[in-house]
Amino acid sequence: MVKQAIIPLAGLGTRLLPLSSIIPKELLPINGKPNLEYIMEECIQAGIKQFIFVVPKNRTSIKKYFFNDAFYKKIIKKKKKDKRLKEVFKKIKRYQKMIKFVYQNKPEGTGHAVLQCKKYLSGTHFLMLLADDLIVKKNCSKEMIALHKKTKSSVIATKKVDRKTVSRWGILGFKLKNKNSFLINEVIEKPKLSEAPSNYAIIGRYILPKKILSVLKNQSRGKGGEIHITDAIKTLVKENEKFYGNIFKGKYIDCGTLKGFINSGLTISKYL
Ligand code: G1P
Repeated sequence: MVKQAIIPLAGLGTRLLPLSSIIPKELLPINGKPNLEYIMEECIQAGIKQFIFVVPKNRTSIKKYFFNDAFYKKIIKKKKKDKRLKEVFKKIKRYQKMIKFVYQNKPEGTGHAVLQCKKYLSGTHFLMLLADDLIVKKNCSKEMIALHKKTKSSVIATKKVDRKTVSRWGILGFKLKNKNSFLINEVIEKPKLSEAPSNYAIIGRYILPKKILSVLKNQSRGKGGEIHITDAIKTLVKENEKFYGNIFKGKYIDCGTLKGFINSGLTISKYL
């Protein structure tokens, strides 16, 4: 059973400056709601019971967004008739019960972020989501959990991208392909076009085995001096651990770039 979701939240958000210099990119509102809440809703609908947020210690706004009880209590007391306020607080309290924090003070990579979660991970597999990558219209995490249940294997969300852009993504190689999934036999982080085994890109959703922690522990730093989850997945694939690519049905929105972020409100509003 996949019940825990790791969400790395220590990125600098340089592609969204100057907005992200004041508000962490995951709290930037899209149609009145931070993109982090869209990600959490997707997870909750898919059966996730606990979130592990990986944040820098000094990025207090994420904690404050979910853990500001004194503020809400004071304002609710003052505005007793405001039903909306009570609803908002109820929702925040529900999220609050599900969140644990661990710390990553510098952006040292997704693999490093996963390592920080060790003390909380309990099941055989967990979900990891990159908050920049919104997928709307169809619940991608739900599809992946269903594929994990069927195959008893790890799963990565994937989508066909323009060949010219392969060096922007983690790219998957595969042998057998069905309509909606394939068995992965190769993984390369941001390859040159000549090295890319396909044009199926990793999009930020992973169901990973807990044993990936022991690979990460001994892994040397990769591109940009970071510990990448992609490199650990590559090692496990080589060791014959089964990973499936889930060609998700939803609509992908890249919220990590200014252009993507600007378009996100309009795109999401079509599917609400
Ligand atoms: C990360 C991953 C990459 C993946 C991408 C999806 O890259 O390392 O494998 O394809 O997310 O958004 P980043 O966007 O952090 O450069």
